[in-house]
Amino acid sequence: MKISGPVVLTAIMLFCACAPSEAGNGGGGAATARLPAYKAVLESTRSAKAEAGAIMKRIKASPGRFEVLLGAVTAAMAADPGLLCLVDKNTGLSADFVPQGLTGLDGSGLSVAKKGLNLRKPVMEALFRMDKAARSEGIVLVVSSTYRSYAYQTEVFARNVKEMGESEASRVSARPGQSQHQLGTAIDFGSIDNSFAKTKAGIWLEANASRFGFSQSYPRGLEPVTGYLWESWHYRYIGLEAAALQKEYFGGVQQYLMEFLAGLGR
Ligand code: DAL
Ligand code: ZN
Repeated sequence: MKISGPVVLTAIMLFCACAPSEAGNGGGGAATARLPAYKAVLESTRSAKAEAGAIMKRIKASPGRFEVLLGAVTAAMAADPGLLCLVDKNTGLSADFVPQGLTGLDGSGLSVAKKGLNLRKPVMEALFRMDKAARSEGIVLVVSSTYRSYAYQTEVFARNVKEMGESEASRVSARPGQSQHQLGTAIDFGSIDNSFAKTKAGIWLEANASRFGFSQSYPRGLEPVTGYLWESWHYRYIGLEAAALQKEYFGGVQQYLMEFLAGLGR
């Protein structure tokens, strides 16, 4: 797996050098010893620092579970650096980054808005499980956009700049190298506008996506945190343990979790 954005690469190399197995063995005692380090990491982040007090309070209330979940997440990061790396307006991917194991959705039985969509294998597997659960409740999840290469994101961003000007485009569209879609783990569902939030699929995903390891990346009202306007349709696969960590300790905000995880490796 090659991730060569300078900040991402440095963070992941340092992260892999830390000891996931040690982080994973923790009960409350181990976690308590690490509380000052966790606080320092949170306070070193761009946006999670504003929530450091609330996040630390939750960690202190249930340190053993935090340690177990974090151990699983750090192990997953070491095994698969492209899964949980921070990709945002400040931390990008290089032009030649292409995720491993992209798999086509054509012929998969999933409901797709167009042909030629691709996702990473673990994401496909989780999506199959989520799709099955949704269908069992009469809900169809239409997959509209998935992996986007650096070159394609260049076209998408340029098209948006042409339509709305650079300043507005940058609120709704990632610059090339800064899109989670380049990881092959992000999915846009349905209409790709916020009318989706009120559809059965949008309501179902909001309530259930975390049970399958998916997380809405750009929640409503958090543009100062995420850099983007609300995108009720955009989910990133982060895995079950990271989704639980996000929900239980990080106020449900993916950006806080990702900044914390990136900060652990610095
Ligand atoms: N719309 C999101 C921010 C992207 O372009 O990746
Ligand atoms: Zn998207």
